[in-house]
Amino acid sequence: MESINATAVFFSPTDTSRTGVCAIARALSDEFSELDLTCAPAQATFGEKEVVVFGAPVYGGRIPAVCRERMAGLKGNNTPCIVTVTYGNRDFDDALLELSDLVQEQGFVPVAAAALVGQHTYGTIQVGRPDENDQAQDAAFAAQAAEKLQAGTWQVPATPGNRPYKDGGKGGNFRPLTSDACVSCGLCVRGCPTQAIADDCRTIDDSKCIACFRCIRRCPVGAKNMDTPEYNAFAAMFSERLKDRKENQYFL
Ligand SMILES: Cc1cc2nc3c(=O)[nH]c(=O)nc-3n(C[C@H](O)[C@H](O)[C@H](O)COP(=O)(O)O)c2cc1C
Ligand code: SF4
Ligand code: SF4
Repeated sequence: MESINATAVFFSPTDTSRTGVCAIARALSDEFSELDLTCAPAQATFGEKEVVVFGAPVYGGRIPAVCRERMAGLKGNNTPCIVTVTYGNRDFDDALLELSDLVQEQGFVPVAAAALVGQHTYGTIQVGRPDENDQAQDAAFAAQAAEKLQAGTWQVPATPGNRPYKDGGKGGNFRPLTSDACVSCGLCVRGCPTQAIADDCRTIDDSKCIACFRCIRRCPVGAKNMDTPEYNAFAAMFSERLKDRKENQYFL
């Protein structure tokens, strides 16, 4: 079998989308590259002999608007690709169709698609996913996609979703707090996907923040938090509502 030149391209504030696309890209080629659009856009052109694995999270049933913007500088030349969205066990609605449409507009040909389940940003929903079992499923899917690639049968798989897409893709309304435990290391400032945190490490620009909670997940001392009675009540209710495990869906 011809070796595959694979690149994982992702926007992934809390790393679940990244885990899925990398599991797929790794199964295509041990030496895959990563192009991380989480904190900045990139310009890149891909050829017909390469394979790109795209990954984006689902925000309100769509891919995040900021992710669309970050992808604008990517160009394919009839480049085969695999499109994936990762969602927090509620629904992916129109997000997979949207991503598939978007990459086609930019010169890529989706040969396979997947809606993957990841830990939800909010509450305690499917904590730890994608887990080992998910990643084994991703690898098996990648093997099937590789067969399709080698066979040269590049028809675009049908994916669920509707056009026009539903309203969505916006950030959430929660704005993280900073406790006195903060050591002003600046990690959250540097890692914020939308540069919403001021240099004081505390002030958050309401108009920029998308409530992705990357700053909370990555804070080394647990100072960034969303510990309010309103959020805690919402998180408890939401976690109960979405507690039943959903499975990944693969489209070839
Ligand atoms: C603003 C916002 C909206 C979200 N909307 C949805 C949704 O519509 N459906 C769903 O199942 N999960 C939703 N989620 C959960 C994420 O899709 C899920 O946690 C995903 O794994 C995050 O990806 P990442 O780790 O790559 O950032 C949302 C998360 C955020 C922050
Ligand atoms: S990552 Fe945590 S400790 Fe570091 S500046 Fe941000 S809130 Fe403070
Ligand atoms: S400030 Fe908002 S956008 Fe920035 S990392 Fe935190 S939650 Fe995400």
